[in-house]
Amino acid sequence: MIVQFGSARIELVLGDITTQQLDIIVNAANSQLAGGGGVDGAIHDAAGPEIMKELRQRYPDGCPTGSAVVTSGGKLTSQYIFHAVGPIWQGGSKKESQLLESAYQTCLSLAEKHQCKTLAFPSISTGVYRYPVDLAAEIALRTVAMKLESSDELELVRFVLFDQGTFGGYARVLETMLV
Ligand code: APR
Repeated sequence: MIVQFGSARIELVLGDITTQQLDIIVNAANSQLAGGGGVDGAIHDAAGPEIMKELRQRYPDGCPTGSAVVTSGGKLTSQYIFHAVGPIWQGGSKKESQLLESAYQTCLSLAEKHQCKTLAFPSISTGVYRYPVDLAAEIALRTVAMKLESSDELELVRFVLFDQGTFGGYARVLETMLV
């Protein structure tokens, strides 16, 4: 599914983020930047051990929830990996929505700062961190769409969704944004 926003576009694809050949790949990390399973494990496996080394050297204190840090792309074809930390879902009253929005916003600002045009996001927080997909999709897509309306730099933001349920959730939200 492809939708144009301003001079840029949002794409939704079903697949594995580690195979995407875009300027930036976003990881769904934890605040210790310690690696893990899910998309974090897949990205570290594909990008190689240099990435963990770089994280430990450059960010020994980790990364706060709602923010993101930058490393090289390692063995990936991407120039950068952004390690974003989304919130753990705790029922919705612990500022989860603001923190998730902030994680996306930080990545979009960092992309502009690094003069990148194309970026791939996974569905941050909706796996191990249990954020409901429909709510997370709403925040992710609205935050990106709003940025694209005003960005001269960004050309493509691709959400790479790993399973049919998550893809369907994002597609339903994106459709409602068209009417
Ligand atoms: N490509 C794209 N998406 C993927 C991939 C992949 N290769 N592997 C998993 N996913 C999907 C999951 O199916 C889910 O829809 O990414 C989404 C986010 O799930 P998680 O990876 O569990 O991320 P999150 O919920 O943000 O939890 C972060 O999990 O792995 C740990 O270290 C990580 O502690 C952190 C926590």
